[in-house]
Amino acid sequence: MNVLGIETSCDETSAAVVKDGKKILSFDVVSSLHFHSKYGGVIPEIASRMQLETITRISESVIKDAGIKLKDIDLVSVTSGPGLLGSLLVGLSFAKSVALSLKIPLLGINHVHSHFYANFLNGKNIKLPFVALVVSGGHTSLFYVRDFNGIELLGETQDDACGEAFDKVAKILGLGYPGGALIEELARRGNPGKIKFNCSGTRGELDFSFSGIKTAVLYYVKERHLDIRDKQDICASFQSAVIDALVKKALLACKLKRSKSLVIGGGVVANDFLRGKFSQAAGEHNLDCYFPPKALCMDNAAMVAGLGYQLYKKGERSDLYLNVDLN
Ligand code: KG4
Ligand code: ZN
Repeated sequence: MNVLGIETSCDETSAAVVKDGKKILSFDVVSSLHFHSKYGGVIPEIASRMQLETITRISESVIKDAGIKLKDIDLVSVTSGPGLLGSLLVGLSFAKSVALSLKIPLLGINHVHSHFYANFLNGKNIKLPFVALVVSGGHTSLFYVRDFNGIELLGETQDDACGEAFDKVAKILGLGYPGGALIEELARRGNPGKIKFNCSGTRGELDFSFSGIKTAVLYYVKERHLDIRDKQDICASFQSAVIDALVKKALLACKLKRSKSLVIGGGVVANDFLRGKFSQAAGEHNLDCYFPPKALCMDNAAMVAGLGYQLYKKGERSDLYLNVDLN
């Protein structure tokens, strides 16, 4: 079964063709990040205009690259939320028109769930059930996944998402946008034990909070004149505290759910320090820990096509009244 995936939840426009939920036949991502960098964040109007200009071309090209014809597509799977309203509408309208004209089924997909599905692409065989952690620019969520249509939310951030905190700290340090990779780069030469930053306590034991630590960095920076070594130490100390909190909560979720598998996804998972810390913790606690390849950590349509296939097999369908779901 060939699934055309469409993803336009934030700044990217992405299309992919995935066979039987696992095998990526083709995929492409066009980012409009370059146009947003000077504003220090994604400007929704710019993002959706770029997506409108890109979506048809990129979809045609992935179908050609997959070596198939339009008539060989069996399902259109599209991100229906959460994300930016205008951006989601571009993807949704395009996906509906493809499904309608080809007379094939349409399925709306939850963007956050699709992030952990990235682990199942290209042959990985992970057994259900498992605990999933999604760490992105918009979300930080823990799930218990009994099945792809049986996903229980265990905890989520009470304030900023983890990637958002990286982006805000990078802004405070004058590093640029998006900040995650820039912080990771500086942190490589810094001392993670230099400054005692901590993530705040949370209401639920599996929730997260990253707004307090961001403010702590802001106050620390305000009181000092920083040289490059200071910035390296701030990045290393901040990154280490944030990742410690992620590891701690994910391990607790595995313990509470008696899960031996931890599946992680989202843009922040491109971070090597995070990968190292989770691998180490998994080894110590006898867990199997999975990360997607870096190219599939960021927003992409392959994960949307893959999850779409699984949910279609479970009998899920959308119709042409499918609307965006911002929650
Ligand atoms: O999943 P994603 O592509 O978009 C959302 O769905 O939000 O994640 C983007 C986020 C940004 O906040 C970015 O700063 C962060 O992922 N990020 C990183 C790294 N690379 C990207 N954070 C930490 N370390 C990285 N290497
Ligand atoms: Zn995302």
